[in-house]
Amino acid sequence: MKINFENLTQLEFKTNEAYKALRTNISFIGDDVKVISITSAQPNEGKSEVAFRLACSMAEDGKRVLFVDADIRKSVTVTRYGVDKETQGLSHYLAGKAKLEEVIYTTNIERLDIIFTGKVAPNPAELLGNSRFEKLLEVSREAYDYVIIDCPPLGSVIDAAIISQKCDGALIVIETDGVSYKAAQNVKKQLENSGVRILGAVLNKIEANGKGYGRGYYGKGYGYGYGYGYGYGYGYGEQKDKK
Ligand SMILES: Nc1ncnc2c1ncn2[C@@H]1O[C@H](COP(=O)(O)OP(=O)(O)OP(=O)(O)O)[C@@H](O)[C@H]1O
Ligand SMILES: [Mg+2]
Repeated sequence: MKINFENLTQLEFKTNEAYKALRTNISFIGDDVKVISITSAQPNEGKSEVAFRLACSMAEDGKRVLFVDADIRKSVTVTRYGVDKETQGLSHYLAGKAKLEEVIYTTNIERLDIIFTGKVAPNPAELLGNSRFEKLLEVSREAYDYVIIDCPPLGSVIDAAIISQKCDGALIVIETDGVSYKAAQNVKKQLENSGVRILGAVLNKIEANGKGYGRGYYGKGYGYGYGYGYGYGYGYGEQKDKK
């Protein structure tokens, strides 16, 4: 079935450029990185926003993308972007109440398909640990170029670690000034201890010279920070943008 996002706003030019840079950096990590989880230390750092916009940006770039809203405790996708129909979702599929093809929706964004969270379930960690989730990843890995999985914060519940273990890598979203160094480090450690490959961190809600917000990206292994024509790049020390 096809759904429409009725209140999907256009991104500002600079923000859009930042997503393009992010997707490009991801593509250069290698073609073995297809299934990517997105998490953070705390609630509200911007995981869902970054995950969804990244998925859209990849689709715009000609990739077939599946966005999976795996925050079974609390979904924002349906209300935030104004989904126009009643939907089933991940929890229905994981609990055996729906088939995989019944929970994958095509959307009004070309090449972007989506799985919503479904009904709030009391036992997400248990559901995500079952073999149906692995099956989902196995099937979607074949059918899509990228699978982007929006997770709950790792500081609150274990779900993101369970999900990320089954992915090719994880991106950590960090809210500028919103999260302590220690909390961000803990997420990194927790993921590493679970054997998860960390692809990098997205620095979100960067104040751009009082002109609002933007996003930056610090890719692990590149050894320097990025500035995207606004705000500040991050990495080893602060870096002025080139504007
Ligand atoms: N770069 C940004 N600039 C401005 N507002 C932002 C930015 N990123 C996210 N937000 C806003 O911050 C709020 C939290 O974002 P979002 O829901 O994506 O966070 P989350 O990390 O997924 O939260 P949760 O842990 O509750 O799932 C939303 O209102 C969102 O619109
Ligand atoms: Mg979220």
